Amino acid sequence: MNPARISPSILSADFARLGEEVRSVIDAGADMIHFDVMDNHYVPNLTIGPLVCSAIRPHTQAPIDVHLMVKPVDRIIPDFASAGANIISFHPEASEHIDRTLALIRDSGCKAGLVFNPGTPLHYLDHVMDRLDLILLMSVNPGFGGQGFIPETLKKIAAVRSRIDQSGRDIWLEVDGGIKIDNIREIARAGADTFVAGSAIFGAKNYSEVIAAMRSEIQQASEAM
Ligand code: DX5
Ligand code: ZN
Repeated sequence: MNPARISPSILSADFARLGEEVRSVIDAGADMIHFDVMDNHYVPNLTIGPLVCSAIRPHTQAPIDVHLMVKPVDRIIPDFASAGANIISFHPEASEHIDRTLALIRDSGCKAGLVFNPGTPLHYLDHVMDRLDLILLMSVNPGFGGQGFIPETLKKIAAVRSRIDQSGRDIWLEVDGGIKIDNIREIARAGADTFVAGSAIFGAKNYSEVIAAMRSEIQQASEAM
């Protein structure tokens, strides 16, 4: 399996000091920056867009992992690519033409990801595995940080892990929502390799302590397998 990656969600960062927060969390050992884009239409909240992505880009070399919770999707993709995004993921319900949107992301020079809400079936994967670099499973309903992990997600992680393994492709399996030190081990054991955490990291005083504790839990999951 891929080495584990931790992707802190800046949704829970101090927006008034965003550049500094990005630098601190990467210095604390995070692998990339999870960037939650909400439009008050596809989800009931409004956050940040390409201008903010451009603003944080000079603060880190780490990949910027853009999670689009917007509808429609296509028009905004080139803007995020120009703003320095490295990975762009979207929800299949938010695109009329999933295959086209995935191609557009890769043609813009980014890695492409498909995101599944807790109630979204996995059949959207059936005909697009060759177009994917990442599958993102939501373990909360999208729209807000600080919600509780939905346990049913563990079965879905295992199902996606076996689909990825059967495909033989290098597709990352990311999980987003309610991830904490005390549940990350079972999420890793179910087959995730990329972990989004917002409130668990930015809500703590010491980011490196949380990230180190998360890595140690993930390591224990792989030792137990
Ligand atoms: C929810 C967002 C998540 C959120 C995670 O819609 O996609 O990335 O920020 O936050 P926590 O880790 O606090 O659940
Ligand atoms: Zn997210």
